[in-house]
Amino acid sequence: MNLSLEHIRLVQNSWDGVEPMIDRMAELFYAHLFELNPHVKTLFKADMQQQGRRIMDMIGSVVRHLNAVDKMLPSLQESGARHENYGVLPEDYDTVAAAFLYALQQCLGDTLTAEVKNAWVDVFSWMTQIMLEVTDQSQ
Ligand code: HEM
Repeated sequence: MNLSLEHIRLVQNSWDGVEPMIDRMAELFYAHLFELNPHVKTLFKADMQQQGRRIMDMIGSVVRHLNAVDKMLPSLQESGARHENYGVLPEDYDTVAAAFLYALQQCLGDTLTAEVKNAWVDVFSWMTQIMLEVTDQSQ
């Protein structure tokens, strides 16, 4: 990932703003994801509040490690392999990113500037790349 130190700081600051309302963030995210991509709803078997915390925890760890992203590789790769088993398709990652950015915008309002949003797009595409790389190798 090619984020400047300034962009790392912007993403980390914006996440500080979301953390106090993380359950709301997760709720908005899943509601929008199921609107954009209704067929993925049946893939989720766990309690959605718990599930929301799991994905937000993982994203929070990535955000904390933006200065040392290599530390996140094993957990992202393992999760990527599990996602393939859940029946997640590569194209589903696009709607997940879109739903995440939508929820972020709802939570942060005008403080989510275009610059911060673009930095988040980079973070998400990096996570997606790592999670999908594993599935490419196993084919
Ligand atoms: C950057 C993208 C993503 C991140 C960081 C992420 C994160 C997570 C995490 C941390 C878990 C908990 C269990 C595990 O790691 O296996 C999980 C489970 C899951 N995720 Fe994701 N995920 C992402 C993308 C997706 C996409 C694109 C889909 C497809 C709609 C998806 C669907 C699921 C499902 C179905 C589960 C299992 C839920 C259950 O146990 O019922 N995820 N995700």
